[in-house]
This record gives sequence, structure tokens and C-alpha cells, in this order.
Amino acid sequence: MKGAVLTEVGGPLQVLDLELDPPGAGELLVRVRATGLCHSDLSVIDGSRIRPLPMLLGHEAAGEVVETGPGASDFAVGDRVVLSFVPACGSCRRCVSGRQALCEPGAAANREGTLLGGARRLRLPDGTRPHHHLGVSGFAEYAVVSEKSATLVPADLPFEIAALFGCAVLTGAGAAFYSAAVTPGDRVAVFGLGGVGLAALLAARAAGASQIVAVDVVAHKRALARKLGATDDVAGGPDAVAEVRSLTGGGADKVIDTTGVAAVLEQAYLATGAGGTTVTVGLPHPDRTISLPALSLVAEERTLKGSYLGSCVPRRDVPRFVGLYRAGQLPVHELLSGKLTLEEINTGFTRLEAGEAVRQVVVL
Ligand SMILES: NC(=O)c1ccc[n+]([C@@H]2O[C@H](COP(=O)([O-])OP(=O)(O)OC[C@H]3O[C@@H](n4cnc5c(N)ncnc54)[C@H](O)[C@@H]3O)[C@@H](O)[C@H]2O)c1
Ligand SMILES: [Zn+2]
Ligand SMILES: [Zn+2]
Repeated sequence: MKGAVLTEVGGPLQVLDLELDPPGAGELLVRVRATGLCHSDLSVIDGSRIRPLPMLLGHEAAGEVVETGPGASDFAVGDRVVLSFVPACGSCRRCVSGRQALCEPGAAANREGTLLGGARRLRLPDGTRPHHHLGVSGFAEYAVVSEKSATLVPADLPFEIAALFGCAVLTGAGAAFYSAAVTPGDRVAVFGLGGVGLAALLAARAAGASQIVAVDVVAHKRALARKLGATDDVAGGPDAVAEVRSLTGGGADKVIDTTGVAAVLEQAYLATGAGGTTVTVGLPHPDRTISLPALSLVAEERTLKGSYLGSCVPRRDVPRFVGLYRAGQLPVHELLSGKLTLEEINTGFTRLEAGEAVRQVVVL
């Protein structure tokens, strides 16, 4: 099969011929049909997220089950599945307390670049075994995954829409519904209007926010945010804090930062009002630190929290969010900027980096 492999930091991705071992115990062979380009892939390419190389990237995918490994009983051949980026074992301390996004064996496998069971199923012609990206490695025609990475979706959900649920929608909508717990009447601000930020915006609207201030340095993303329900928009930069505070009458109740820029996380905190919650979803370079006025946490009863995979449980939340999509309340198809072939993948990442695209999807 063909797959897009990162062999050295800086890229570009190389579309190579690979072989795939058959699925092992608890694993599935999936014919991948669509995989989205996320900034987290770009962060691996540019070295902001350090992962073992070579690695076959792509972690937001949808496809069809073509073979089930021994004991893989959650799915049948022909099932349409969404693959998400944390395989949740279901039985560790975190999983049993409902924090599947923090599954301990899942996180360890993701760090090591293996599947949940510890295996690497990919092989290059010279015998090298590329690492798996977050248990998915979706920029390829086929993927062997742990069945714990997969969620069943309706057979008539188009693959390029289904893929978005695997990362952008779970992460963004989960950040708004669960981490920020947006409630009717909330004044919300979203910093960063990529796939994740716009999914958060759609969910904030669905949850009944009375005001949504959309912040981004890119004008056409602010325009799209307006079309999707933002009530106000603000150009990112040094004045953004004052503008959000002024528009929201002294600071927003809920602020969601999806920029991946530590300095913007500081801005998001400062744009939050008394009693408010700042949620951060972006993944800055691991060396970055932030500096915040410490007193405000107590005197203003402020909350600052991180949100991984939107604090979602994929097998609970993919069906929930697909239901909202079908009811017209979460129009995630609006996040799609375009479709690419696998050969066009580097052009897609150049566009993502330049701020020209929201969610592009490789169709396989
Ligand atoms: N927490 C998680 O589980 C999770 C999951 C997926 C992605 N992520 C991370 O979330 C972030 C967003 O991902 P994405 O795919 O939507 O990325 P993206 O590149 O599509 O969007 C980021 C947006 O931030 C904007 N931005 C940059 N600097 C800004 C500034 N100074 N002020 C305002 N806006 C600014 C960019 O213009 C862009 O529109 C990335 O850091 C990604 O790694 C986290
Ligand atoms: Zn992602
Ligand atoms: Zn677990």
C-alpha cells in the first residue's frame, strides 16, 4: 500500500510503498477512506511534538473494516468506523473513572509509536518498521489499529465528514461541552479558528452561548466564524485582550484557546472574567511556559484547565456529536476546506501552516 511517512524532522512527508502485517489480537484491518490534516500532524513534522521516526502520520481518519484479528469482537467486516487518537484500554485507573482521553497504556503506546498492544505492523521494503501515529497512521490506504481506537458510525455518513469526528470535532466540541461546560447565556470567546477552534465555536452555539467572540489573526477565518454563529470577531494580537474584555462587558465567562501558542494562552486567561473558566486545547512546544497573575485565581474564583481529546469518551461522544450533526445543530461539514490526494499531502500542510485552510481531508 501507499502511505505518507515522516523520515526526518522538517519533512516533507514521503509517499512510500509499505507492507502491513495482518491484524493481531484485538486489532482491525481498516481500508482508510478519508484522513484529515490536523495541526498536531504539522507539529510532528516541524519538531514541536517530538515523536519517534520514521512515523506514518495522520490521526483523524475514517474507513471500513475489512478484516478482524483474533478476539476483536466489537466490529464486523463492512462496519464503517471513525478512528480517534487515544486508544482507550477500558480497564486502567483512568479509563474506569471515565477519563478515557487519559488512558495510561494508550498514552504509553502513543509515546512509543506503537499500537495499544505494543506492536508495530508497518514495514518498509528495507525491513524498517515505521512507527504508528497515535494508534491510527491514517495517511495510507490501509491501517491496522487496535479496535479500542475505533468507533462505529452510520453507514451513510460520508467518509470525509466522518473523519473530522476523530479529532477536530471530538476535541473542539468536547472542549466547549465538557471542559468549558458552556451553558445557555454564557459569553464565550474562542482564540484560534482552525478545525478545532471552529468545532468549539459550533458546540458553544449549540450549547446556547449568548455571545461568541471569535479571535484569529487570519481575516477569512474570522469571516467563516461569523457565518457559523460568532456574534463578534477580533483580530488576534496585543489588543485582543482589551477588545474581548470590552465586548463581553468585563471578560468572557468561558474562553477556549486552540492556537497552540503559549502567549495566546496568557491572553485567553486575561480575557476571561471573574468566575470564569479558561480552557486550553492547543499544544505549544514543550519548552514553553506561561506567566499569569496568581491572585486572580483565588480573588476572582477563576479556573484554568487543559482539555485533551475534549475530555471525550469516543464511543459515547462520536455517536452524540454525529446525532447533533444530523439534527443540524453541529454543521461540521462547514469545517471542510478541501479534498486532497495522498500525493498532494505536502501542499496541504503548506496551506495549513500558511493559514489558508481549515480542515483539509486526504481522500483515499
Ligand atoms: N488537546 C487536544 O486533544 C488536541 C487535539 C487536536 C489538536 N490539538 C492542538 O490544537 C491546536 C489547534 O489545532 P488545529 O488543527 O485547529 O490548528 P490550526 O492551525 O488549523 O488552527 C490554529 C489557529 O490559531 C490561529 N492563531 C495563531 N496565532 C494566533 C494568535 N496570535 N492569535 C489568534 N489566533 C492565532 C491560526 O491562525 C489558526 O487559525 C494545535 O496546537 C493542535 O496541535 C490539540
Ligand atoms: Zn488532531
Ligand atoms: Zn485505559
